Amino acid sequence: MGKRNFLKPSWYLPESKATSESVFLNRRELVKGLGMGGLLAAAGMSYKSSSAHAAEDPSAGLYKDIVRNEKYKLDRPITPEQLNLTYNNFYEFGSHKQIHEAAQALKIRPWEIEVDGEVEKPMTIGIDDLLAKMPLEERLYRHRCVEAWSMTVPWSGFEMSEFIKLAKPTNDAKYMRFETFEDKSMAPGQKQFWYPWPYVEGITMEEAMNEMTFMVTGAYGKPVPKQMGAPLRLALPWKYGFKHIKSIKKISFTKERPVSFWEELGPTEYGFWANVNPEVDHPRWTQATERDLETGERIPTKLFNGYEEQVAHLYKDLQSEALYK
Ligand code: MTE
Repeated sequence: MGKRNFLKPSWYLPESKATSESVFLNRRELVKGLGMGGLLAAAGMSYKSSSAHAAEDPSAGLYKDIVRNEKYKLDRPITPEQLNLTYNNFYEFGSHKQIHEAAQALKIRPWEIEVDGEVEKPMTIGIDDLLAKMPLEERLYRHRCVEAWSMTVPWSGFEMSEFIKLAKPTNDAKYMRFETFEDKSMAPGQKQFWYPWPYVEGITMEEAMNEMTFMVTGAYGKPVPKQMGAPLRLALPWKYGFKHIKSIKKISFTKERPVSFWEELGPTEYGFWANVNPEVDHPRWTQATERDLETGERIPTKLFNGYEEQVAHLYKDLQSEALYK
């Protein structure tokens, strides 16, 4: 992974500016100063794949021969695994990109997922029981962060609609709300009191039922690594990456629209919908292009990250909403 482009991204604010004021600012103000990914990464760390990780993950055998769903095609090569493993956003383990080593502290078994809210019957299900019930497949998806970098990923997992069949929401369910684990002893980032832990995200039921909405449990033919959100994360490839909540512990079907982590921190910059749109800039940088993480080249961003055909219909009656932040 080249360091050249990571040293001073266009949206970078000097750390001194944020830290000198941090004591006096409330958390919303502070995060405006830091920005998403506003701290520079410690350079030079390399990812060591941990055999302990494989030993503690009983799902390791599920992905080797997983069948790729050929419906979902890419227009550029798959981003090399090593790059994806070492350039991540996971604020629970640090407000920078090199969290891969710190994230190995995440304990992923046992891992119970609570399902509640507007459902016929609330339940708690272990990740391995869930994996046994779901039809697993591989999909190649584009992945576009609001910070204007992008990659492509071979995800494994199952379509959200399959999970919804299992969870049996009632007619009152209008949204799905997702919550990440909360445990300061594993995740030192959660000691940073100015963030509204736990990380929360939400989507509408219509979005959840869309064929693109994918629950990720694997990547690159293996269980999804901890730094990428083991053992369960979301992939919504037409939305900015911050919607792709990692390490999900709780799923609630709700009547009310959930307020997500970044929306709570900076509602002028991050909203509920967060659909990719090259014509609507972030207040502090352009969204017209994105930096391909592999080549370092800037490439044009596409409306809905190239998935217009699959998802544009979801928004045709919502034009008064802030659909693109
Ligand atoms: N989920 C949790 N729990 N915590 C986070 O900090 N970061 C989000 C999203 N999911 C985040 C999270 C952001 S900003 C992005 S861009 C993607 O994860 C990054 O996913 P990746 O590291 O697999 O590329």
